[in-house]
Amino acid sequence: MRRPFIAGNWKMNLNRAEAVALAEALKEKAAGVDYADIAVCPPFVYLDAVAGVLKGSNVKVGAQDCYFAGNGAFTGEVSVEMLKDIGCEYVILGHSERRHILGESNELTNKKLLAALAGGLKVILCVGEMLSEREANQTDDINAEQFFGSLAGVTAEQMKDVTIAYEPVWAIGTGKTASPEQAEEVHAFLRKLLEYRFGKETADTVRIQYGGSMKPANAKDLLGQADIDGGLIGGAALQADSFMGIIECGK
Ligand code: PGA
Repeated sequence: MRRPFIAGNWKMNLNRAEAVALAEALKEKAAGVDYADIAVCPPFVYLDAVAGVLKGSNVKVGAQDCYFAGNGAFTGEVSVEMLKDIGCEYVILGHSERRHILGESNELTNKKLLAALAGGLKVILCVGEMLSEREANQTDDINAEQFFGSLAGVTAEQMKDVTIAYEPVWAIGTGKTASPEQAEEVHAFLRKLLEYRFGKETADTVRIQYGGSMKPANAKDLLGQADIDGGLIGGAALQADSFMGIIECGK
C-alpha cells in the first residue's frame, strides 16, 4: 500500500502575507495528519518565508522549478543548491505550463531532474497529454515520450526520490476533471512503464499523483483508484480548507 502524497502547486498566485497566512493555517490544520505526506510549492520569492513557517511541521516545502547548473551566469534562474539552502525538499519539474507556455522540452526537463536528484531534492515529475493529443488517440504515446525522455539516465535507486504526476493538460485549471476511470487508465499505463523501465519493486513503490481540477468533491473517487496515490493540486490548494478537504480524502 502506497502512502498518499498530496502536494499543493500555488503557481503564480498569492502575495507574501497571503502565502505566509496559508502556510500558518496549514501547519495548524495538518498537524494531526499521520496518513499522508503533504507538501506545498509556493512561488520562488515566498519560498523562504513559507519554509520558515513550516519548519519542523509535517507540511514540506517544494519549488515549482529549478535550473540544472550549479551557479553562474544564468539570469533569472534558481539552482538546486539555493533551494536546499532555504529548506526546500521537493521540486516540481516538467509541469505542462512550463512545457507548453515556456516551451520546455523533455531534454531540458531531464537535465533539471538529474541535477535535482544529484543535489538531494525530491522530484515531482509531471507528464500529461493535451486535448488535441487525446482526441487523436495519442495519450499513451505522449505520456510515454515524456516519461522516458524526462527520466533518461535515472536509476531505480534514484526513483525512490521521484513522484510522477499525471496531469492531463485539458483538466488543469479548467474545472474539467478526468473521470476516475480515465485517470486510472493512464496511471495504470504509467505504472507499466515504471515496471518496464525500472523493475517491479520500483513500479510498486513509486507514487503517481493525479493533477487537474482535483477538489474535495472529487478527490475521494480519484484517490480510491488502485494506481492513484495522491494529488498535485493547483486552484484548490490556495485555500487551507479545500486543501485539507482533499488531504482528508487520502485517509
Ligand atoms: P489545478 O492545477 O488543480 O488548478 O487544475 C493542477 C496543476 O496544474 O498542478
